[in-house]
Amino acid sequence: MSGAPGDDTVAPPRPLAGRRIVLGVTGSIAAYRAFEIARRLQEAGATVDVALTPNASRFAPAFTFRNLVGGVVSDDLWTTAEDPELHVALGRRADALLIAPASATTIAKLAQGIGDNLPTLTALATRAPVAVAPAMDSAMFAHPAVQANLETLKARGVMIVGPERGRLASGQVGLGRLSEPADVVGATRALLGRHDGALRGRHVLVTAGGTREAIDPVRYVGNRSSGRMGFALAEAARDRGAAVTLVGTQAPPPGLYGVIVERVESAEEMRTAVARRREGIDALIMAAAVADYRPAEAAAEKIKKAGADAAPVLTLEQTTDIVAEASGRFIKVGFAAETEDLLANAAKKLSAKGLDLIVANDVRSEGSGFGSETNQVTLLAPGEEPAALPLLHKYDVACAVLDRVAACLEARAR
Ligand code: C5P
Repeated sequence: MSGAPGDDTVAPPRPLAGRRIVLGVTGSIAAYRAFEIARRLQEAGATVDVALTPNASRFAPAFTFRNLVGGVVSDDLWTTAEDPELHVALGRRADALLIAPASATTIAKLAQGIGDNLPTLTALATRAPVAVAPAMDSAMFAHPAVQANLETLKARGVMIVGPERGRLASGQVGLGRLSEPADVVGATRALLGRHDGALRGRHVLVTAGGTREAIDPVRYVGNRSSGRMGFALAEAARDRGAAVTLVGTQAPPPGLYGVIVERVESAEEMRTAVARRREGIDALIMAAAVADYRPAEAAAEKIKKAGADAAPVLTLEQTTDIVAEASGRFIKVGFAAETEDLLANAAKKLSAKGLDLIVANDVRSEGSGFGSETNQVTLLAPGEEPAALPLLHKYDVACAVLDRVAACLEARAR
């Protein structure tokens, strides 16, 4: 939910700013969903060119795309008067080619190197990374020819996005539905990150959300963390090419494509999951609001109401500090959510927990902290002056953190 101060005044993130993406659309009943994909790519800051097959333009006319994107939109090889070499031009200047939806026929043409329309010719002409999101009837998708063609594309380094199981045009339920537009765009961001991102080849483990410590089977001690900061960190790491694992207490938002998510509830479950997944990571980013104390004992049955004189007393015990006990060659990033003495408390935690970076935020200040889309933080690293960032969207805060992590990893490698 938005609505917190700062949500309207802070610029929305543009993770694809400066990128040029060719969206290839083919003749599938799902072609209309390419409108939303185009719009989302454009909103994410990309310059979007749209290359349609002649069949695609029957489902989703070029005219509509022209109203959605700022780049070239064409469905015809023969009337590109302004540029007779459009297929070469589109491919050459593209940072990525995304074909969504991709029909069985287009997948076959891509596998065989046939270029007889604008999307397939662009695929031959480009040296940019390619993602393909198949959409077709489930029987067609399962056909050995389609599967073999997809294998060929994968072996060539093409990213295959989906398809999903769901209701198909035939009315039947099966595997063949185009992935959700948010996921297709998430996959495109991952594709670009793996191609040239500062964290490609790295593995980042992120924790997110507030833990819940059981009082009895129905009640818990919790906090107001929404998990948003952690999700934004996972996205930003993914967008820089890292393999990302997220251990979190909340359901991930749509578009977190490519991130492995493990759901946990309590501090102890999070501790176990982090310990199990720590092996071989390059960075641990503890954005989760982990309970510092939990009920010493959780009642096995729901505690009954027994009147004012018999109000239960909760005895708390300390949890284990997950980030403090995690040691290894990886970069450790922690968070300090404070309501007073922000920098002094953050600096204490930085050294007590052996962190390489701490992200300090005053959760009482406007537009910051739990539940909001935005955050105003100060970054503290050992031996460095604190760096206060302006009020930013949480994704942009995450980008600043991940840029620091990438710089630390690079400095260590030197
Ligand atoms: O000590 P405090 O809870 O304020 O520290 C916050 C930082 O420590 C966060 O990065 C949080 O994820 C981490 N933490 C932890 N294990 C705990 C408590 C906090 O890793 N049990």
